[in-house]
Amino acid sequence: MRPQDRILELKKERNAVILAHNYQVPDIQDIADYVGDSLGLAMAAAKTTADVIVFCGVDFMAESAKILNPSKIVLHPEPKARCPMAAMCDPNGVKMLKRDFPRAEVVAYVNTSAECKAEADVCCTSSNAVKVVNSLDSDLIIFIPDENLASFVQRSTEKDIIPWPGYCPTHESITVEKLKKLKEEHPGAAIIVHPECRPDVIDMADAVRSTEGILTFVRESPSSEFIIGTEQDMTYRLSKENPGKKFYTVPGAVCPTMKLITLENVLAALESMSPEVTLKPELMERARKPLQRMMDIGRGD
Ligand code: 13P
Ligand code: SF4
Repeated sequence: MRPQDRILELKKERNAVILAHNYQVPDIQDIADYVGDSLGLAMAAAKTTADVIVFCGVDFMAESAKILNPSKIVLHPEPKARCPMAAMCDPNGVKMLKRDFPRAEVVAYVNTSAECKAEADVCCTSSNAVKVVNSLDSDLIIFIPDENLASFVQRSTEKDIIPWPGYCPTHESITVEKLKKLKEEHPGAAIIVHPECRPDVIDMADAVRSTEGILTFVRESPSSEFIIGTEQDMTYRLSKENPGKKFYTVPGAVCPTMKLITLENVLAALESMSPEVTLKPELMERARKPLQRMMDIGRGD
C-alpha cells in the first residue's frame, strides 16, 4: 500500500486532521486537509473538531496549534523541524527590553517560542503585522524576532518600533542581484515578495504579502508572469491554482527545516501517535492570550 493511502486510513481511524504550511513539499500538501499560511493554520487549528492534529510545518506552528487546543493531541512528525529565526529570540532578552522600555507594548511575530509569546501583549503574522501594530495604544513597540518584518511595518506606522535583531536565513538569501537577474530574463513579470525579505528587496517589489496573500494577489492580478520572492515550494499551489500563469523562483530560496516533514514520518506519527507536542499548562495559558488577541484582529492582506 502507498504511504499516502495508509495515512488516509489512519487519519480516519484516529479522527485526525492534517494541517500543512504552504512551504511543505508537494507530497505533503496533497495529503493535507488544509494548506495555508501561519494565520490560516492557527485559525484552522482553533476551529477543528478532530481529536488529533498532525502538524506539517515547523515547531512554532505546531506549538501554536497545541496552545489553541490544549486538550487535543498535536503531533509534530519531526521535532527537528525548527524555525531558525524563532530560535534567535529568548524570553530573558525580551524581559530585559521590557524593563528598559516600560511604556512599550510587545508584538511577537508567531515565529517565536511559546516562552517568548508568553512575554508579549499580542502576536502577529506576516498577514496582519501592520494591522496589529496600528491597533495598539502605545506609540512605542518592541517587535520580536524579525528585524526585516519590523522594518517593513515601520514603513506603514507612525509608532516607533524597537526591533529584535533576528532574521530568516531563507529570506535573507533572496537578494537584489538575484531578483535583477530574474527580471532581466523575464521583463514582463511582476515581483512579489514576503515581508521577511531585506529592505532593499522590499523596495524593488511590486507587492509584499504573506504566503496566503501571495496566492490571493496572483489570483486577482491581470499579469501572467510572476517572480516569487519567498520559499520555492510556494509555486506548487500557485501553479496548480493558476494553470495559465508562469512563476519564477529565486535560486537557493529553500527552508531546509520545512522539508524535514516527509510522508514516512507523517505515517509513523499517525501509527505511533508520537512525537506529541507537550507544553506546561501555565505557559500555554500565558501564550494563548496574545495568540487569541491576534486572531481576533484577523487577516490584514
Ligand atoms: P506566512 O505566515 O506568510 O506563511 O509565513 C510563515 C513563514 O515562516 C515565512 O517564512
Ligand atoms: Fe523560519 Fe524562514 Fe523557514 Fe519561515 S522560511 S519557517 S521564517 S526559517
